[in-house]
Amino acid sequence: MPKRWLFPGLGFACLVLTALGALALTPEQFPGWAYPSPGAKPASSAPEVMISVPGSAIRRREDDVHHMNMAVDWFPGSHPPAPAIITHTTGDAWACGYCHLPDGQGRPENASLAGLSETYILTQLRAFADGSRESAMPAYAPTGYMTTEAKNVTPREWPAAAAYYSQRRFVSRVKVVESASTPPVIEKAFVYAPLEGTPTPLGARIIETPASMERFEARDPHVPIIAYVPEGAVASGAKLAASGGPAAQPCALCHGVGLKGGLGPPLAGRSPTYIFRQLMAFQAGARRNPEAAPMRMETADLSQMQMIALAAYAASLKP
Ligand code: HEC
Ligand code: HEC
Repeated sequence: MPKRWLFPGLGFACLVLTALGALALTPEQFPGWAYPSPGAKPASSAPEVMISVPGSAIRRREDDVHHMNMAVDWFPGSHPPAPAIITHTTGDAWACGYCHLPDGQGRPENASLAGLSETYILTQLRAFADGSRESAMPAYAPTGYMTTEAKNVTPREWPAAAAYYSQRRFVSRVKVVESASTPPVIEKAFVYAPLEGTPTPLGARIIETPASMERFEARDPHVPIIAYVPEGAVASGAKLAASGGPAAQPCALCHGVGLKGGLGPPLAGRSPTYIFRQLMAFQAGARRNPEAAPMRMETADLSQMQMIALAAYAASLKP
């Protein structure tokens, strides 16, 4: 029996909130910009070509870098040896480090795991596996991958991954830039690739663009990522975080001073589109594991603009 039915009251509250969340947005109002697609594969992809990233002496075949059973480790000296589940797997269980990177720095379409607590990591694995953590956008492929992964990896292997990632130090590589416009961009690899040309209005969006798509696609854990956010977003996010917004519960109450982590996970310096998608997911009832209850209340009356501001502010903080 799924655990959540042990809390019938909460289950009912969740149903009501889910209905409200679902009713709140028409397809036109849904912030599709926060869920960029993988885009088209480059026509001239040459799998046998050897590639590397700046600062690494290692060279690997390009197709090895895109093999989901192994995580190419460009900087093996930067962390203790990782358990096999993170770097080398077989069959249906993918290597965690393929997506979250061997040192847990993650990418905007998945999540940084470095520095999250063991308990939190285990809770989320269980929530993905039992279906109580989903995306507010059901068709968003990355969340689907994580759900498949949590089902395919036996729970016996979860603790080693949780212990390893919880001990890594998170280093933010996102630079939050307030702007009225963004370079022209195209959806690629679940982020936005910058193009040459005339800037376009940013509007009420956050656009994350890697400084180098080549390094991003090579899964370089150090590639800087620029996040364009609306002008004034950081200051209004700081104000909202301090007051707690409509729910009147300051974020730091649970996420700690400087949002470096407390009862809730650390948020400082993490990908702002990741944070925004999570706020959407709590509000829509797509993240509805019992531990998410405080966040469902916190987000119930937030507007998309307020979520953008909170995400921009959290991402701008030092981890
Ligand atoms: C194919 C890619 C992929 C693989 C492999 C993968 N993950 Fe994930 N993971 C994701 C994505 C995408 C998300 C974010 C989902 C979302 O935002 O809805 C995620 C989220 C998570 C989270 C939640 C983080 C947070 O801050 O709430 C945890 C914990 C996690 N993954 C652990 C793992 C572990 C442990 C493994 C290996 C056993 C693993 N993942 C393998 C893609 C992957
Ligand atoms: C009463 C406590 C509480 C308050 C106040 C609170 N949070 Fe949370 N938050 C949590 C808990 C607990 C979790 C983890 C939920 C889970 O385990 O599923 C969480 C998770 C999150 C996540 C997901 C992080 C991840 O790694 O996926 C985000 C984003 C977030 N909170 C943002 C905020 C913001 C922004 C505020 C202020 C507007 C806020 N929270 C206020 C308790 C709180």
